[in-house]
Amino acid sequence: MIAVTGATGNIGRPLVEILTAAGEAVTAISRNAAELPAGAVHVEADLSDPASLRPAFEGAERLLLLTPGTQFDLPAIVAAAKDAGAERVVLVSSQRVGSRPEEGLGAMEAAVTESGLEWTVLRPGGFASNAYLWAEQIRAERAVAAPFGDVGLPVVDPADIADVAAITLRERGHTGRRYTLTGPAPVSPREQTAAIAAALGEPIEFVEQTRDQALETLSRMWPAEVVEAILKVLGSPNEAERAVSPEIENLTGRPARSFADWARRNTAAFR
Ligand SMILES: NC(=O)c1ccc[n+]([C@@H]2O[C@H](COP(=O)([O-])OP(=O)(O)OC[C@H]3O[C@@H](n4cnc5c(N)ncnc54)[C@H](OP(=O)(O)O)[C@@H]3O)[C@@H](O)[C@H]2O)c1
Repeated sequence: MIAVTGATGNIGRPLVEILTAAGEAVTAISRNAAELPAGAVHVEADLSDPASLRPAFEGAERLLLLTPGTQFDLPAIVAAAKDAGAERVVLVSSQRVGSRPEEGLGAMEAAVTESGLEWTVLRPGGFASNAYLWAEQIRAERAVAAPFGDVGLPVVDPADIADVAAITLRERGHTGRRYTLTGPAPVSPREQTAAIAAALGEPIEFVEQTRDQALETLSRMWPAEVVEAILKVLGSPNEAERAVSPEIENLTGRPARSFADWARRNTAAFR
C-alpha cells in the first residue's frame, strides 16, 4: 500500500489517480475530506500533528511525503511512517535546496536521507499551477498583474511531478537519487498570460508590477522571508534555475508538458 500526503493538491490528486489506475491500494491523506478514485481510502490527518499520522500510515510500505510549507516536523513525520512499517519514501522537496544552498533548506531532505528508509528526493522548480494566483484577476478583469514580466523560467506541470512520483514509488532503481524537475522550456509571466489567453480564446492584459508592488501583494499571503525568497528566483534566477532539466523526459520517456498544455487543461479556473 502507498500512503500519499497532500493527496488533494496539485500533485497529490493526479498522483492518487495514476496509482489507483495502476491497481495500487492508496491511503490518501489530507485534513479535509475529499472525493477520490475507487481504490483510494481517504484518511483525515494533520501533518502538524505527527501522532495523528501514525494510524494513517498503518500498512503503508511506501510513502509520498509532501509538506506544504517549511513549518512541519519532518523527522517526526518520517518516524511515524517508519514506526508504521514504511520501507520507502519519496519526498517532494524543492529545486531551491540545491540552487540556493545559502537558504539552508537542506534539513527537509536530511529528514528522509538520514531516516534509514530507502529514499528518493524530487526537486521541482516553480509550478505551472502558481498561475492559479492570477485566476481571480483574470476572471474579474481579464488582466494579470505580476512582476518580472519578461524573465522566463522552465515552470513544471504538477501532473509531470505526479508521473515521476508514481514511477519512483512503483519501480525499483531510484533509491538514493535526487531528481530536478522542470518544464521543457523557459516561459515568462507575459508568455504564460498569453498562453492562458489563447486557451480561453480571449485577450488578457499583462500589467507589469514593480518589485515593491509584488512584495506588497504576495506579503498578504506569505511571510516576508518567503516572499523575498520567491522574488529572488522570479526576478534574478541563477543558472541552475534557468536550466531545463532532462529528468522528466528521462524518467517518463516523453517530453515534459508545456505551460500551454497546463493552461489548456485548466481553463475552468480562469473563465
Ligand atoms: N509551488 C511551487 O512553485 C513549488 C516549487 C517547488 C516545490 N514546491 C513544493 O510543492 C509542495 C506543494 O505541492 P502542491 O502544489 O501539490 O500542494 P497544494 O496544491 O498546495 O496542496 C496541499 C495539500 O496538502 C494538504 N495539506 C495542507 N496542509 C496540511 C496539513 N497541515 N496536514 C495535512 N495535509 C495538509 C492539502 O489538503 P487539506 O488542506 O485538506 O489538508 C492538500 O492536499 C510543497 O511541499 C512545496 O514546498 C512548490
